[in-house]
Amino acid sequence: MTFDLTVVDAVCEHVVGRRAEIEVVVAALAADRHILLEGPPGTGKSTLLRHLAASAEVPFVFVEGNAELTPARLAGQFDPARVLSDGYSPDVFVDGPLTEAVRDGALLYVEELNRVPEETLNLLITAMSEREVNVPRLGRIPAADGFRLVAAMNPFDAVGTARISAAVYDRMCRVAMSYQTLQEETLVASKESGAAAGELTGRIVEMVRATRDHPEIRIGSSVRGAIDTLLIAEQLSAIRESGSAQTMLDSALAGLSGRIRVHEGTGRTAEEIITEIFLSIFGDQDRGEDPSGKGSTPAGVTAG
Ligand SMILES: Nc1ncnc2c1ncn2[C@@H]1O[C@H](COP(=O)(O)OP(=O)(O)O)[C@@H](O)[C@H]1O
Ligand SMILES: [Mg+2]
Repeated sequence: MTFDLTVVDAVCEHVVGRRAEIEVVVAALAADRHILLEGPPGTGKSTLLRHLAASAEVPFVFVEGNAELTPARLAGQFDPARVLSDGYSPDVFVDGPLTEAVRDGALLYVEELNRVPEETLNLLITAMSEREVNVPRLGRIPAADGFRLVAAMNPFDAVGTARISAAVYDRMCRVAMSYQTLQEETLVASKESGAAAGELTGRIVEMVRATRDHPEIRIGSSVRGAIDTLLIAEQLSAIRESGSAQTMLDSALAGLSGRIRVHEGTGRTAEEIITEIFLSIFGDQDRGEDPSGKGSTPAGVTAG
């Protein structure tokens, strides 16, 4: 089990930018710490952790955090049918992800930690601080070397981070994952959509970034909005046999309008605000024309 420079380099091969964050995460794991990545949706938290698990070649157990993750689901439970015939014997117990990770000395990777119910979080607190899991009728299962919790969560979630108690934070090291630069987000959008990392991709990413500090928008779009806009634009240009500005606007409306949350009482719809942002970035030109303004098909968009 190695968390060292080789792992940092391997993860960096798959992740755009983020070298500093990757170094800190690897250092924290090398120091045998539990770690929490906190940042808005689409900032590459899952991508980073997935590549980390693959590159470090450590056993790795994945759990999706949600309201249905009860303590019994996380720790495991006795098979009710077999309890009737065999009683509460250890081989009737079906390990949950936490018990599996504790036994194997694996990384337990919990997505959306802030959605995990309180009583389930308490189980994680015990696993982190006592290095054991206690299951009624089964007993205590000590954690093998290597067991660590790596979790990701989104501070803007409707199920807020206020729920995460100081007891959880106090047992974990935290790495903030904020939005990346325009250049990095353009590379991410290009990589994921297959569009060239040129002017058109840059402008779509600029639109996405503009949604994040628009006064009428409460929650802006993640880079996923840019990826989807670019993917739709390519197909829509083929269907319409034109990569016109209207085609780009329609793609952006489909890719972005559902992702933003407009402040209550603004009186404007998401479509109106996205259209305004589009016009401010692409220019208020005749929508039948090419949005790149160069008289050619925009980079990354296939015209018919
Ligand atoms: N730095 C990055 N390098 C490579 N891909 C990224 C990066 N940031 C985001 N992505 C891509 O953007 C999308 C969302 O990333 P994801 O890791 O799922 O975000 P999160 O878990 O923070 O919500 C994925 O398609 C992912 O591949
Ligand atoms: Mg994620």
